Amino acid sequence: MIPLKRRKVSLTVSQQNDTCRFPHLSIFILERKMGTSRRAFLTRLGRSKGFRIKETYSSSITHIVSENNSGDEVQAWLDNQTGRDTNDTSSSVCLLDIRWFTESMEAGHPVTVQDRHTLQVKPKPNIDPNAMLMKSYACQRRTPLKHHNSFLTDALEILAQNAEYNDNEGRSVAFRRAASVLKALPHRVKSMEDLRSLPCLGEHSQRVIKEILEDGSSREVESTRRSEQYQAMKALTGIFGVGVRTADRWFREGLRSPDDLIRTGQQLNRAQQAGVQYYDDLQKPVTKAEADVISDIVEKAVHAVLPGAEIQLMGGFRRGKEVGHDVDFLITHPEEGKEEGLMPKITNWLEEQGLLLYQKTTRNSYLEKMDGPARAPNNMDRFERCFSIFKLQASAESCTSNSTASVQDVSTGSETERHSDQHSEASDWRAVRVDLVVSPYSQFAFATLGWTGSKLFERELRRWAGQEKHMSLSSHALYDSKQNLYLRAKTEEEIFAYLGLEFIPPSERNA
Ligand code: UTP
Ligand code: MN
Repeated sequence: MIPLKRRKVSLTVSQQNDTCRFPHLSIFILERKMGTSRRAFLTRLGRSKGFRIKETYSSSITHIVSENNSGDEVQAWLDNQTGRDTNDTSSSVCLLDIRWFTESMEAGHPVTVQDRHTLQVKPKPNIDPNAMLMKSYACQRRTPLKHHNSFLTDALEILAQNAEYNDNEGRSVAFRRAASVLKALPHRVKSMEDLRSLPCLGEHSQRVIKEILEDGSSREVESTRRSEQYQAMKALTGIFGVGVRTADRWFREGLRSPDDLIRTGQQLNRAQQAGVQYYDDLQKPVTKAEADVISDIVEKAVHAVLPGAEIQLMGGFRRGKEVGHDVDFLITHPEEGKEEGLMPKITNWLEEQGLLLYQKTTRNSYLEKMDGPARAPNNMDRFERCFSIFKLQASAESCTSNSTASVQDVSTGSETERHSDQHSEASDWRAVRVDLVVSPYSQFAFATLGWTGSKLFERELRRWAGQEKHMSLSSHALYDSKQNLYLRAKTEEEIFAYLGLEFIPPSERNA
């Protein structure tokens, strides 16, 4: 849309052009590198000789005249005006050097366009489809769950994981970004040629990929995978409640596994004790069927203590994963404020039913006035949140539709299993990690977006918001630093729209 003021100007211009002597011609003079006053002078001159010269660009323009611009520069400017792709050659407008204009002025009529007048536009060498399709932020791309390059992404992710164990976040993210680009490719990579002009593939990642393509595996990846440090860090950080820092300290003290912690009588906090106690169970992937049973249980608990509350399955399962390391839920109530203090009620209910092996609830500490834009955008969110370990009846897996039965089974089960340490393989229940998050209704869309993942997708969304939009995105809010205001949203779609991004459905956020 042309602003009102400018439209008025162009009206007066066309009125002035009534005396036009060459009606088949409509000229636009490019101000770029020419300046306003010279352009105004040339416009007056042209009009005085009966040429139609337009003030603004439109599709009716037949000749674009510029000075000191290359053909590519003018074409780029034109593409920008028309929103058309440079490859589209259907446009018939002549891109001319100022010489054509001055010669026409001298002649008093439009001179025939010759080669020396025409600006040369380099034909784009058949543009690489990779470069065209592969956007550089993961949140601009669609990444399905099942892709064609696990043989490469698994390797890169081992290096990413190892970098994380070594507290090298930058390196870790670089490998994860590279892996993510390969996940978005619509085909299996067969040669290095397939990677030409793809974003985010650093020199190191390329070296690893090349080796795998040529030799079937990468020595660096294989030696990392086998290394004592990698294996120990994997085992130790795999314990619920144990982060990289703690695991690294234990590793340097010579500890390698949960058994080592027990054997040496390490001081463990409550979460870590539960983590060691249920280690084997928590290592086993949680299936979608199990997640569905837990959904039913959580729904029952929530509705028992707050009718009308809404529950949504989040994380990997919302993205369509068939297995996960935990089950994540987001809970809210359409009446703002009703959700306050909800979590203790839920956990009490679950505890009474004997369904919780462990739980720790953190209070909601988010305050828009205090937190919002000033916070580092990748901070942990501040919702009321419960980290828990559920006691899930093993038979529950096969009767997903009957949650009542499984609830009762579990509560009787708790009688017999009480105080049993590592329970046996034959046991009729298993431990499952469950995260519950309560969000006020006004933040629900942001919380939904933030808790759907993947982690890299989230990270890229926040990076896009900050670097490309001068906005700050969290699981609570979106803040526009240019306008100095919070942007409210009821749906994920609205948030993508604020961010100027195409909506990507959860199933394609597996970056
Ligand atoms: P998860 O760690 O559960 O990952 O975080 P996941 O994608 O579900 O995968 P698995 O199958 O369980 O391993 C789920 C989402 O919740 C967000 C993460 O960013 C991720 O997108 N999250 C997690 C937070 O926003 N804050 C947290 O403190 C933890
Ligand atoms: Mn999860």
